[in-house]
Amino acid sequence: MRAICPGSFDPVTHGHLDVVGRASRLFDEVVVAVGANTSKTALFTPEERVEMLTETVAGRPGVTVTLFSGLLVDYCRDHDVDVVVKGVRRAADVDHELPMAQLNERMGGLETVWLPTAAQWAPVSSTLVREIARLGGDVTPFVPDVVATRIAARLGAG
Ligand code: PNS
Repeated sequence: MRAICPGSFDPVTHGHLDVVGRASRLFDEVVVAVGANTSKTALFTPEERVEMLTETVAGRPGVTVTLFSGLLVDYCRDHDVDVVVKGVRRAADVDHELPMAQLNERMGGLETVWLPTAAQWAPVSSTLVREIARLGGDVTPFVPDVVATRIAARLGAG
């Protein structure tokens, strides 16, 4: 089966990579898909996020990285993706993810599988990583080295 791990990945964290790695052990192929819709608080462009993901998951068997725009159900229909895989850190994530999972099933028959986030990564989010970095904190425990380097360069701290 082919799975998709969609997200903003601004930037990719160790929590994301844990979910991608576990998904790749459950499914034959995993497409890590960066949503192209940018927000005003974005640190990296979607293209930069794809680059960082490619650098960090390159070499993992069956894992590819792509940019997508439009509806997730349309992308999955057009690219023969069977299932969405998402990490769930806490109840609030379920509140956020459940309507999307239900509507994706209703709109496109697209199923969603949730993986419980590994406990050590449960408090980590891209949003908090960006905030910590912008305020001068050390994000190296939470993101791959290539990402920490890019964050430092982007914020002019390294
Ligand atoms: O990092 P996030 O916030 O979990 O990523 C959200 C993302 C990109 C996975 C989600 O916003 C998404 O699926 N967007 C595609 C547009 C879409 O299909 N929207 C309708 C969902 S029911």
